[in-house]
Order: sequence, then structure tokens, then C-alpha cells
Amino acid sequence: MRRALISVLADGLFRLVQSDIERVLFDGPSIHKRLDEMAAQITIDYSDRELTVIAILTGTLMFMSDLLRRIPLRLKLNCLSVVSYHGKMQTSGEVFFKELSVPGVAGQDVLILDDILDTGHTLEAVRKKLETAGPRSIRACVLLSKRKQRARNVHVDYIGFEIDDEFVVGYGLDFMERYRNLPYVGVLKKELLEQPNQ
Ligand code: IMP
Ligand code: MG
Repeated sequence: MRRALISVLADGLFRLVQSDIERVLFDGPSIHKRLDEMAAQITIDYSDRELTVIAILTGTLMFMSDLLRRIPLRLKLNCLSVVSYHGKMQTSGEVFFKELSVPGVAGQDVLILDDILDTGHTLEAVRKKLETAGPRSIRACVLLSKRKQRARNVHVDYIGFEIDDEFVVGYGLDFMERYRNLPYVGVLKKELLEQPNQ
């Protein structure tokens, strides 16, 4: 009885969050299906090497845990926290690292994981920072890539899905730290993006 009540309540609450979403782009099963393919490719590409994954927090949380559980290789995992957005949705172009030291990746085969490639500032800054530590190789992997003219011309080796230049949330991606817990990727309603203070 109590469990039924909780489930009805949870359903209602989820619908409340869902009402902020204009449309769903990729539901859970389609994301997982694509992750199976990406993981298989990464596994083949790194089958003879030890992989060092550097995940950029916080947006990669779900992507990282679902993708890495599909890769049956010996690998190391490290996370980096960066801030590239001032407040809302405009990119500042400047990328701030929360950690002061560069991860020790000398001689290692590094795979950078990020949630979404937008302007390219974040991936470029992270790649440059890691290069100073002298890795053997660096590749990049993103769940989503926006089709657009980028400020930075970064090369990404593994892309989950290409999307239009719209603001998306869910499956780890946020707007003002919200919506990360949605189990799918969706487009946020435009009017929510335009509200000055939330
Ligand atoms: P870039 O530096 O402009 O490529 O932006 C990369 C970062 O901006 C991502 O790691 C996200 O945290 C954030 N970002 C860019 N576009 C979106 C979006 O549509 N939704 C949520 N976060 C985004
Ligand atoms: Mg973010």
C-alpha cells in the first residue's frame, strides 16, 4: 500500500519535471543501444592497450557510468571538474579548472569523456591541459555533438548522437544544475531558458 502510494507520488512528480520538456530526443533504450555500439568500438580500438579515461564532471555522470560498464577492458578512471558557463546558457569562452594539478597521465592512452560538444572551448582546454602531462595518445568521446559552426575546431573521435543547435537537458545534462536526473535527453522549453532568475 505504502509502496503503491510512493510510486503514484513519484509518477506525478516526474510528470511535473517532464512538463518543462518540449520534446524527448533520445529515450533511455535508444541511448543504451547507441552506448553498446560506442563501447564495442572503443573496446576494439583499445584492446591492446590500457585505457585512461578522464571524465569531465558533472554532465558525464550517467554517460560515464553506463558507457564504462560496457567496456570490458583494464582501464583507469579519473574525473575533472571544469566550469565553462557563467550562470545560464551562454558560454564565456573561458574554462576554469577546479583542480589545481593536471592528472598524471604521462605515457598513457587517454580518452576524454564529455557530455556534449557545443562551442568546443571545454574540450580544447582539457585536451591542452592534459597534453602538458605528456600522454602517449589523447582521444575524445562525447555523447552529443551540436551541428554548428564552432568557436574552436576540435576533433572528436567518438560521437553518440549529432543534434541540432538547441539547448538540451537530462541524462546528466543540466540547466542551472537541474534536470540531470531525467532518464532521457530532451529539449528544454524555450520560455524556461529566457527567465532571468531561477
Ligand atoms: P563547450 O565548451 O561550449 O563545448 O560546452 C561544453 C559544456 O557546456 C558541456 O560540457 C555542457 O556542460 C555545457 N553545455 C553545452 N551545451 C549544452 C546544452 O545544450 N545543455 C546542457 N549543457 C550544455
Ligand atoms: Mg553543464
